[in-house]
Formats: sequence, structure tokens, C-alpha cells
Amino acid sequence: MGNIRLHDKSFRPFIDNDTIEKAIDKVAARINADYKDSEDIPVLLCVLNGSILFTAELMKRLNFKCEIVCVKLSSYVGTKSTGEVRDIIGMTGSVNGRRVIIVEDIIDSGKTIANLTKMMDSSGATETRICTMLLKPGCYKLDLSIDYVAMEIPDDFIVGFGLDYDGLGRNFKDIYVLDENMRYYILFGPPGAGKGTQAASMAERFNLCHISTGDLLRGEMASGSELGLKAKALIEAGELVPDEIVEGMIERKFDTVEGYSGFLLDGFPRTTAQAEALDKMLAKRETKVTGVVSLMIPDGMIKERIKHRAAIEGRADDASDETISNRIKTYHEKTEPLVEYYKAAGVYNEIDGTGTIEEVRGRVNSLMESL
Ligand code: AP5
Ligand code: MG
Repeated sequence: MGNIRLHDKSFRPFIDNDTIEKAIDKVAARINADYKDSEDIPVLLCVLNGSILFTAELMKRLNFKCEIVCVKLSSYVGTKSTGEVRDIIGMTGSVNGRRVIIVEDIIDSGKTIANLTKMMDSSGATETRICTMLLKPGCYKLDLSIDYVAMEIPDDFIVGFGLDYDGLGRNFKDIYVLDENMRYYILFGPPGAGKGTQAASMAERFNLCHISTGDLLRGEMASGSELGLKAKALIEAGELVPDEIVEGMIERKFDTVEGYSGFLLDGFPRTTAQAEALDKMLAKRETKVTGVVSLMIPDGMIKERIKHRAAIEGRADDASDETISNRIKTYHEKTEPLVEYYKAAGVYNEIDGTGTIEEVRGRVNSLMESL
């Protein structure tokens, strides 16, 4: 189970299906015991839409005669319960003269349940009990007792097993909680500093999605796309491609990638304009850069390492001395000012990028663990 993304938000695994099913088994066993000798036919009141899956799973486990009536309420908007009473839009059958078990997916403030209980009284129910899959005891302030609770949870926003975020997420069989701590790391450094080399193990260890703008651009060039053709001449001259191109690539990844705890940006941002664009993208997601991991090596070592790589990978921008020198120059002119930018933001961390790959990896890991 990895993170999931719904609309603009990320959710991490919270309660797995097996735990949910076992909790429903237990609550159903209690209801069966209480209703086993009933001569009447009680009604389960399924509170749409959230309670659909829970009602179905509960009902499958009940071994006395029962019927179902559904009630539709107006829904929450966004991720916060407003504490407002949700309006009752309609019931699919009568509860007059019947014993009712209200089946809710989740109870927080309890205002909805108080309203529903009153409604059952005025509709002629002879008794009303309440059963909920989830209860937030920290939020529940009413005297009204809740007869059957499958699971208690803290005051977090959750989705899955019938619960939604603005319409999505009801179909997941597990329950997920809002992950407000999606992390955004920048892997910074001059060409050849070892960003790509260190990125793979960082991404794996910290469950991050590695995005290398250089790799994405080389992919575009290899596929012969329009974007690739535009980038080719600039990259082969050791110049940067236009900011909008890389910004668009990054935002598309933020919007579509699922299942990670965060992102590892390698080769982005590379100009102050890109750093400002990134800040805006993250502000839209109500977050900011978690930390910059900056690998530093002297200019002399850059050439040495890139020449070594040229022999192995054959990258076009590693082929000539002139291109390598221009990339170093471009780095000092356009990218290095970001050191001050991120120092001012309080997120800059520098690591000595010299030494063996394993030595650098050790430094990177201990820094990442401290962020
Ligand atoms: P990009 O692909 O990002 O290139 P770069 O920044 O120049 O970085 P490199 O990939 O060359 O170096 P690296 O730090 O990843 O080092 P590596 O791990 O491979 O960008 C390419 C081009 O795309 C840019 O020039 C630009 O035109 C364009 N572009 C990309 N992003 C852009 C953006 N945001 N805006 C505009 N344009 C953009 O290591 C290098 C070599 O050293 C390897 O052979 C490795 O095995 C070796 N090595 C690594 N660590 C060690 C070590 N500790 N000891 C010994 N050898 C080591
Ligand atoms: Mg690289």
C-alpha cells in the first residue's frame, strides 16, 4: 500500500482492509447478540453516500431478519467538517412503528446523528440505536450514547471504504489519512557533483519520486518530440532550456505521480525564476521546500568526473571540453545564486561531495535523517 492522490491532496495508508473487516465482524456479532430473539423486523438506516460500503458489509454479517432504508444528507465540502448540520434530503422508505439502527460511516461532532435521531422519532420509529464504523471520540460532544462503534480514530481527515474527498476515494478497500507532510527535497550541486548517482538510493530509502529534469529532457530528445528538438541545441551547447519548459514538466509530475512520501528534485530549480515558480507550485499545495541537499565539489573535479562518465554513458553534453566548461560557467552564473536564496529560506544544507560514492552516500543519509 502506497500513498494515493485525490484531486490536489495526498493520502497515506491508515487502516488496512483486514483490520476493517475484523472490526466489522466484531460489531456485527454484538448486534446479532442483541437482536437474536427479536420478533419484529428492524430497519437499518443507511446514511448515503458514505455508509454504503459499511452498511453492505455489516448487513452481510447480520443473521436476523432486517430491512434497509436509505437516507441522503447534504455532504461536506473539502476536508473539514464544518460542524454545520447536514440537511436531510430524503428517505427511501418508512420507519413508522419500526426499530431503527442508524448506520453511519463516521461520527465526529455528532450533529448529524442528533438530527437523524430526532428525525427517526418524528417519523414514528419505536426505538433508535446508532452504529458507526468510525468514531472520533476527540470531537464527539453529545450526551447521546452511540450503541455500536467498530473503530475509534483521532481527528484526522480520512478517505476510503465509502468515505470521500470531494467525491473521490470511496472505492478504496483500505482507509487512508490525509498526508499533509508530502516532502519536497532539492538535490542541488554543480554538473557532475554526483546528484544522479546519489538520487537512486535516496529515493528508495525515503520513498521519494526522483525527478531529474536532465533525464526528462534527454528522454524527450531521444523520442524526437518537439520539446526535445527545442532542447537539443541548448543542452548540447551547455546552456539552460527555457524556464517554462522545465516548470511545466515538474508540475505535471506533481499532479500525476502517486504512491510516494515526497519528491526528490534533481537539476531543478536551476534559476531564481525556477525557484520562485517552485515556491508558487508548493504554496498552491499549502506546503514548501522541505530541504535542500547540496553536493559540493571543486570545479577541477567536475571535469574529471564528467570525462569519466562521457566514456561510459556517451551523453552529448559530456562530449566536448567547450560544452563542459560552458555548463560550469552557466552553473556559476545562473544556478549558484540559489545557494543564497535557500540559505535565506532556512532550508539549505551543504554536503562535501568529494570522496567515494559510499562516503558521500553516508553523509547524504545522515543529513536526510535529520531533516
Ligand atoms: P543534468 O542532466 O541535470 O546535468 P547536470 O546538472 O549538468 O548534472 P549531471 O547529470 O551532469 O551531474 P550529476 O550531478 O547528476 O552527476 P552524476 O551523478 O552523473 O542537465 C543536463 C542539461 O539539461 C543542462 O545542462 C540543461 O541544459 C538542461 N536542464 C536540466 N535541468 C534544467 C533546468 N532545471 N532548467 C533548464 N535547463 C535544464 O555523476 C557524474 C559522474 O561522476 C558519473 O560518472 C558518476 O559515476 C561519477 N561520480 C559520482 N559521484 C562520484 C564520487 N563520489 N566519486 C567518483 N565518481 C563519482
Ligand atoms: Mg544527473
